[in-house]
Amino acid sequence: MERIATGISGLDKSLGGFPQGRSVLITGDAGCGKTILGLRFAISSCENGYKTVYITAEEDSHDLHMQANSFGWDTQELEEKGLLTFIELTRIKVKITEAEISMEMDPIKGNFYKILEDIPSGTEVVVIDSLGGYTAKLTPYEFRNQFDLLVYELKQRGITSLLIMDSSTSLEFNEVALFSVYGAINLSRRENPYTGRRERVMDIIKMRNTRTPTQFLAYDIQDKGIEIINGEEIDDIDTDLN
Ligand SMILES: Nc1ncnc2c1ncn2[C@@H]1O[C@H](COP(=O)(O)OP(=O)(O)OP(=O)(O)O)[C@@H](O)[C@H]1O
Ligand SMILES: [Mg+2]
Repeated sequence: MERIATGISGLDKSLGGFPQGRSVLITGDAGCGKTILGLRFAISSCENGYKTVYITAEEDSHDLHMQANSFGWDTQELEEKGLLTFIELTRIKVKITEAEISMEMDPIKGNFYKILEDIPSGTEVVVIDSLGGYTAKLTPYEFRNQFDLLVYELKQRGITSLLIMDSSTSLEFNEVALFSVYGAINLSRRENPYTGRRERVMDIIKMRNTRTPTQFLAYDIQDKGIEIINGEEIDDIDTDLN
């Protein structure tokens, strides 16, 4: 199976990248690095020659460029080269709402599978950041139908995707979403049992066809973005200190 490097060396070392043509779900609390992970993967896929679309629901593309630039990543250049395209979902949302009003549909209910209509043909990698804004008022049944449709259609088109979900949406629909995706990673904070300090950790919940670490991967967000700190080594050092 072909894989696309995530651009995070510790993650690429342990997973070999994300499976090409499949969907990976990223969940996690506010501020834990979902967007930074999404941006890094988008850049990495561009660097590997894949035509990439970053669909953003919460931040506008200007803020995403600034976030990327803060790590020294030149997203403007990738955009100019035509490798990276940002799509702002808020604009699409307005469009959908107008259409729904004209069809007398409930405008508040999400129809997030419609995101598919706005992915240009020829797209090879998609990051959707995040699905949250689209899931309001959906029942788990409706969510599952739409989510399955989205994942199925992306696979049919051979698109590799990163589907980002905020923690309130994942609290509501996590179980449902986990079934359909090929891989799932959760980002969180926890207290290190040895140091008592809070640290950021990544849990590879699943990654089909891949040997996954059973331990949490501790990570940090530094000058160059997300960096994996080998959890076991750190635990060893701390144990020695104790
Ligand atoms: N240049 C930087 N250097 C170091 N850390 C940074 C830098 N930029 C952002 N961060 C850290 O990354 C965090 C934001 O990460 P990110 O926006 O990816 O989180 P998120 O999971 O997408 O959050 P949200 O749920 O709000 O969308 C900040 O709170 C900060 O701790
Ligand atoms: Mg974010």
